[in-house]
Amino acid sequence: MNNQDIINEVRRKNDIVDIISEKIPLEKRGKNYFGVCPFHDDTNPSMSVSREKQIYTCFSCHATGNVFTFLMNYEHKEFNQVLNDLAERVGITLNGFKAKKISTKYDNWYNIYDFANKYYQNNLLSKEGIDAREYLKKRNIDDETIKEFEIGYSLKDKDSLTKLLIAKGYNLDLLNKVGITTNDYDIYHSRLMFPLHDLNGKVIGFSGRIITSGKQNKYLNTKETELFKKGKLLYHYHIAKEAARVKKSVIIMEGFMDIIRASTIGIKNTVATMGTALTKDHIKEIKRLSNNVILCFDGDEAGVKATISGGELFISEGLEVKVITLPDSEDPDTYILKNGKDAFFKLIDNAIYYSDFKIKNLGHNRNFTSSEEKANYIHEVLEETSKINDPIRIEIILKDLAKRFEIGYNTLEKSFQELKDARKLNKKAPLITKMKTTQLKKKDKYQKASLNIIYYMLNKQEIIDIVASEHLVFPTEALRALESEIVYFYHKYGFINEADFYTYLAPKNELVNLLAEILQLDLKPTLTKDELFDYFKVIREYNLKKTIKHLEEKIKNTNDPSEQIKYAEEIRKLRIGES
Ligand code: CTP
Ligand code: MN
Repeated sequence: MNNQDIINEVRRKNDIVDIISEKIPLEKRGKNYFGVCPFHDDTNPSMSVSREKQIYTCFSCHATGNVFTFLMNYEHKEFNQVLNDLAERVGITLNGFKAKKISTKYDNWYNIYDFANKYYQNNLLSKEGIDAREYLKKRNIDDETIKEFEIGYSLKDKDSLTKLLIAKGYNLDLLNKVGITTNDYDIYHSRLMFPLHDLNGKVIGFSGRIITSGKQNKYLNTKETELFKKGKLLYHYHIAKEAARVKKSVIIMEGFMDIIRASTIGIKNTVATMGTALTKDHIKEIKRLSNNVILCFDGDEAGVKATISGGELFISEGLEVKVITLPDSEDPDTYILKNGKDAFFKLIDNAIYYSDFKIKNLGHNRNFTSSEEKANYIHEVLEETSKINDPIRIEIILKDLAKRFEIGYNTLEKSFQELKDARKLNKKAPLITKMKTTQLKKKDKYQKASLNIIYYMLNKQEIIDIVASEHLVFPTEALRALESEIVYFYHKYGFINEADFYTYLAPKNELVNLLAEILQLDLKPTLTKDELFDYFKVIREYNLKKTIKHLEEKIKNTNDPSEQIKYAEEIRKLRIGES
C-alpha cells in the first residue's frame, strides 16, 4: 500500500460521527448529525456531520473537512500525530510510514525561536549565567525544573544573539519581525528567559524576568506577532493537555512561576494567561481540556477580582467551576514553598464551588446594620443561588441563610421560588435557531455554471470523464485547479469520495475552501444530460467571449492593417460558430 492508501484506510476505519461525538454532543436530524461547532464562538448547533460523506461542515464559520482535519484543529495536533492516534485506535500499524512534512512560511520563525531557546539555556550554564543561577537557587528552583521548563538567560551585551542568527543566514528584518531583536539589536538583556509554547508545544516567543530589583518591567514578553497572541496563548497548555485528561480537571493560575512551582510537586494540569484577563478564546481552549476548572489565583484583591470575572465567563460557557482561595499576599508559588505539597493538595481537595465563593464574597465588607442592607444582600444571594441546579446545595444555602439572618425557612423558600418563576417568564422564548449562512459573494453565471459542474463531478462520478473530455476552461485559476485535481484523483484511485479528497487537498488551503463552498451548494440530486450540456454551453460562451476579447485587444495593439484584418476575420468566424 502506498502512503495515500494507508491514510485512506485509517480514515475509513475511523467513522467521523463516532470520533466527533466523543468530543462534542451530536444529535441526529434526518440523514446528518448536528452539534455546536467547536471552531467558533457559538451556542447553536451549526455543525453538520455526515456519516455518508464522512465530512463535517459548519454553516456558520465554514469550518469543514474530514476526520483528520477535525482532530488536527480540535486537539491542535499535526497531521502525523492524528494519523498515528487514529491508526492505533483501529489497530493499523504504520510500519516505516512517513507522511511528507508540509512546509510553511513559519518554518523559519520556529527555527529562530528554537535556536534562541537553546542559546539562552546554554548561557545560563555558562560563566555569565552565575547571577541567574544564584537567583534561581534562592527561589528554590532546582536543575531538573530548569531543564523541564527550559529556563535560560540572556546576556548583558547588546547583540550576541543577533550576530549568531545573522551568521546563520537570517536577516534583520525577519529577526525584528519575530520579536527576537528590536531595532536590529537583541531585545533581552540580563534576564531569566522562559520560552512560551503555542498550544501544540512549539516555541513562539519568550518572557524574560529581571533578576535584580529595579525599575524595569518585571517581565518582558515577546511582542504580539502573527504567531504569538496574548489573547489566545495559555502558558503550559501543551503539557496540561495530557495531565488534564488524567486528572479530569484543569487548574488556572495567574503567573507562570506558579505553574512551575506546582509542577515541582507533581501538579501538571495547570495553565496561566500571560498576565492578561481570560478571554473567550482562552475559555474555548480550556474547555477542550476539561469541563471542570479550578481557579487558583493570587490571594490578593486583584486575585479575587480575577476569580470573579474568570468564574463568570467559565460559568456562562457551561463549565463546572471551583475555587481555591489563598491567604492574602500569597500566590501558589509562595504558598507551596511555605506550606509544602500536602497542604496544597488539601487546598485542591477542598476547593469550593464558584457559586459558594461568590455568595461568600457578596458578604465581604458589608455591615448589616439596616434591614434594607440585609434584605439587599439576601436578594443577591438568592439571585446567585438560582443559578445552581443541585436541589441539595440550594437547600443547604437557604438553610444557612435562614439561620444566619433569623428568617423563617419558608419565607426564604417562597422568595426563592418567586425569583425563579419571574426568571422563567423573563427568559424569551428561544428563537428558532437560524443557520447563519454567510452570503456567498455574488457570482456571475459562468462561475455558477462552473461550481455546479464541479458539484456534480463530486456527486456523480460518471460525469467526470465527460467533463474532462470537454476540455472546458473554467473562469478562475482556482476552479481550473480544482477540476484538474478531481480528474487526477479519480483516475488515480478509480473513485472519488469527499472525505479522502479532502485529505488529498489538505495542503492546498485555498482549494479546500473552494471545495467546501461547492459541497454546501445542495443542488437537486438528479442531473440530465441536457442540463449538463447547458452548463458546458455557458462555459464555452465564456471561453468564446474571452477569446474574442483577446483578439480585440490584439487589433487595438497593432498598427499593421493586415494583422487587424486577420484578427477581425478570426472574430467573425468565431461569432458565426457561436450562433
Ligand atoms: N506579567 C507580565 N508583566 C509584568 C508582570 C506580570 O507579563 N510586568 C505576567 C506574567 O506572565 C506573570 C503574570 O503576569 O507570570 C502574573 O504576575 P505576577 O503574579 O506578578 O508574577 P509571578 O508569576 O508571581 O512572578 P514572580 O513570582 O517571579 O514575581
Ligand atoms: Mn509570584
